[in-house]
Amino acid sequence: MGSSILDPAGTDAAEIATLFWWMTGAGLFIWCAVVGIALFCAHGRRLHDPHRAVPFLIVGGGVVLPALLLAVLLAFGLAPLARAKPANDPARLVIAVAGEQWWWRVRYTTPAGVHIDLANEIRLPVGRRVDVSLSSDNVIHAFWIPALAGKVDMIPGRTTHLSLEPTRTGLFRGACAEYCGLSHALMSFPTEVMTASAFDAWLTAQAEPARPPLSDEALRGLEIFTRHGCGACHMVRGTAATGLIGPDLTHLGSRRSVATAELPNEPAPLMAWIAAPQHIKPGALMPGFAMLPDADARALAAYLHGLQ
Ligand code: CUA
Repeated sequence: MGSSILDPAGTDAAEIATLFWWMTGAGLFIWCAVVGIALFCAHGRRLHDPHRAVPFLIVGGGVVLPALLLAVLLAFGLAPLARAKPANDPARLVIAVAGEQWWWRVRYTTPAGVHIDLANEIRLPVGRRVDVSLSSDNVIHAFWIPALAGKVDMIPGRTTHLSLEPTRTGLFRGACAEYCGLSHALMSFPTEVMTASAFDAWLTAQAEPARPPLSDEALRGLEIFTRHGCGACHMVRGTAATGLIGPDLTHLGSRRSVATAELPNEPAPLMAWIAAPQHIKPGALMPGFAMLPDADARALAAYLHGLQ
């Protein structure tokens, strides 16, 4: 998963990478100049008339040069900030992401205005401007996909915005960049940049309600899911599960990972998560279901994994 700001895959990240190299180059130049002058003063030949050189060094090297250099670097550094305002392009994709402890609530809106609630994974079409509106109803998080754009805080009571535009397809790592509690480091999420047609097909599939269980085991899993009240916290669109506290599970099986970006989306990790969420994400709010008999846990995982 690409996660380096120095290997940008978005116009905004490319601008930040350019800024980084210019700042590093300028810093190196200033450092060399200062060390050069210090070495010259320590070991160089004595000047004929040191008293005439002093005002020149103090005014030139201590006032004029730093003021000029810093003013140029400041203007250069602020320029990308002015360009990073939310784009008003009507063709832009609008998504809303809310930081939770410790997962991401993601909402897409179709051109027809229909909301699609997803979680813990972001997919974007290549070459299209995206306006991400960011919020939180708990603590401060920060939304960051290093390869695509800068980071923006998610502040309770406010909506902040991040504008980005991916320039190549691929899989990139996103993360929370603000310490937000016990499992802050486990808030990473996969971001997949896809071709426009693949993205449209994916979003169309995500908008569909959940498909009914296909196997007997999955059918039993649905029964266990219902009996244990999982639907009080989780939404599975098209079923009686309409909870809003935890992540939407309508298409859980189609995601790249479960629980954190580190765990593959397979029945076994899913079972481990359901049995003891706090072992995987310390402080997780979901109660553990370690008391489930093995066969029941397997059936539950089969149902959830089948939600493609
Ligand atoms: Cu959310 Cu750190």
